[in-house]
Amino acid sequence: MRIYVTEDYNAMSRRVANILSAQVILKPDCVLGLATGSTPVGAYKQLVEWYKKGDLDFSQVRSINLDEYVGLAPTHDQSYRYFMQSNLFDHVNIVPANTNVPNGLAEDAAEECRRYNEVIHTLGPIDLQLLGMGHNGHIGFNEPSDVFELETHVVNLTETTIQANARFFASADEVPRQAMTMGIQTIMQAKKVLVAVSGKDKAEIVKKAFTGPVTPNVPASILQMHPDVILVGDKAALSLL
Ligand code: GLP
Repeated sequence: MRIYVTEDYNAMSRRVANILSAQVILKPDCVLGLATGSTPVGAYKQLVEWYKKGDLDFSQVRSINLDEYVGLAPTHDQSYRYFMQSNLFDHVNIVPANTNVPNGLAEDAAEECRRYNEVIHTLGPIDLQLLGMGHNGHIGFNEPSDVFELETHVVNLTETTIQANARFFASADEVPRQAMTMGIQTIMQAKKVLVAVSGKDKAEIVKKAFTGPVTPNVPASILQMHPDVILVGDKAALSLL
């Protein structure tokens, strides 16, 4: 595992964007696994800037997002589809049909997960998977559990995650209770994994995930077994490593 320690959130974002853009430059038709949450916002902003300067071309890139809330329309401002459109897709020349996010409004979420797996099997393996990390070690929405779930599946969100994500909604009551998420096997099959972390509040879980035992109780700990992981974090998030 390669670790890059940066001064602060902005420097972390630039480094993450550097690595994503290197991937796009080296393989213009690459498959990017993309993530949401507050952590990657700065990196996406940087990519948009470089695109506008003419330094990046997304016209052949395919993307597969990690997850989506069950029950939120793509136009809901807290849906992950909306997040991706407003933070990245609407501002670069990626072809809309080449972007993939589970459909939160699918009538049958389990069926939607099966469809999403098909998409992943057709496009994959993912060349570079970007990940943030929840405070309980979740990646995508793979919550702490007794087993590592393999493929895209429906999850019941834990109370910690609901509370953590409540800041984006009017109240915790409005946070969906379920989500669809890419499974751990799919994440592990990515050729390269890029984990981004920022802030002191992530320091404890970063330490647990990367130096503690590999267990489905800390889903991110499985990344210790991946042959090509890059961890980029600001010094606050990496302070306990
Ligand atoms: C959400 C997402 C994750 C993300 C995590 C951390 O629950 N499903 O993909 O990594 O939050 O979010 P943040 O980056 O805001 O700390």
